[in-house]
Amino acid sequence: MTTARNGERQPHLPVLYQTIIHALQPASPGKYVDATVGAGGHAWGILQASSPDGKLLGLDLDPQALALAGERLAEYGPRAVLVRASYTTLTDQLDKLGWKSVNGILIDLGVSSMQLDTAERGFSFLREGPLDMRFDPGQSRSAADLVNTLPESDLADIIFRYGEETASRRIARAIIASRPINTTSELAEVISGAVGGKRGKVHPATRTFQALRMAVNEELQTLEVFLPQAVASLAPGGRLAVIAFHSLEDRLVKQYFKKESSDCICPPEQLVCTCNHHAHIKLVSRHAIMADNEEVKRNSRSRSAKLRIVEKLELA
Ligand SMILES: C[S@@+](CC[C@H](N)C(=O)[O-])C[C@H]1O[C@@H](n2cnc3c(N)ncnc32)[C@H](O)[C@@H]1O
Repeated sequence: MTTARNGERQPHLPVLYQTIIHALQPASPGKYVDATVGAGGHAWGILQASSPDGKLLGLDLDPQALALAGERLAEYGPRAVLVRASYTTLTDQLDKLGWKSVNGILIDLGVSSMQLDTAERGFSFLREGPLDMRFDPGQSRSAADLVNTLPESDLADIIFRYGEETASRRIARAIIASRPINTTSELAEVISGAVGGKRGKVHPATRTFQALRMAVNEELQTLEVFLPQAVASLAPGGRLAVIAFHSLEDRLVKQYFKKESSDCICPPEQLVCTCNHHAHIKLVSRHAIMADNEEVKRNSRSRSAKLRIVEKLELA
């Protein structure tokens, strides 16, 4: 549990809360999507700002998160629709509800505080638990499966790419030598042994745990599937807000937004346009928005958050 600015105890403090509400401009009777509803912090604000008739579809893969969101949003009754599904199925979920388009979409990526704090979910090297890391507990492949079955070179690639860990090869070698590894603390110990003690304030296992989580849940791949669906689902003037916590995620979002906000995507050296591409969106902010010092002090998780916002064009 964490404490919000108003003193309220919450399982997860929503990052950049006011900025998100301001960016999405929720209004009655608009339709909104929170693609990663989590404990429902942002969703609560969207529903409040779109009172009395705004509706929100909240998606999450994690049944525990959905249960918390259900409690948090209960006061809004049928205005909140919560569905256990991946945001990669956004178009299908909107079709099921008969929502042709929506006025705002939020996706707040990464892991929630309650997932990190629940030892049995295996997300944190600070808590002894099974090596799990699945957002969807029904998914077959867990972190233990990756750690105990992948070839050394594949493990090293994952740790290097998603963790930006320079000692990836050493860590992968140590993992192979210590298999089977079944718990978070066993893995953290193997990593510490491979790279030596603490690196400043950062625990040596931080990057590898992040990399494994991203691989288990295919986080970059699912984001890539989601973005075009989100843009296509927006009504003219509707806004999409993406909060990323990893440089690769943010780069993917930035590049996608750049392409979709350009009327031409021909190579720069080409003098005559042949691509026939048209902009569908415009950038609401040219640069990523970050939490201010006060928020970072209150909520350390906000330190690496990068928010990008786009708006659907009228004629897109
Ligand atoms: C950072 S939390 C969101 C917190 C939320 N904004 C709040 O205010 O409480 C991210 C959530 O995304 C969920 N998630 C991860 N991958 C998902 C996916 N592919 N589809 C739907 N939800 C997903 C996680 O289970 C987690 O609850």
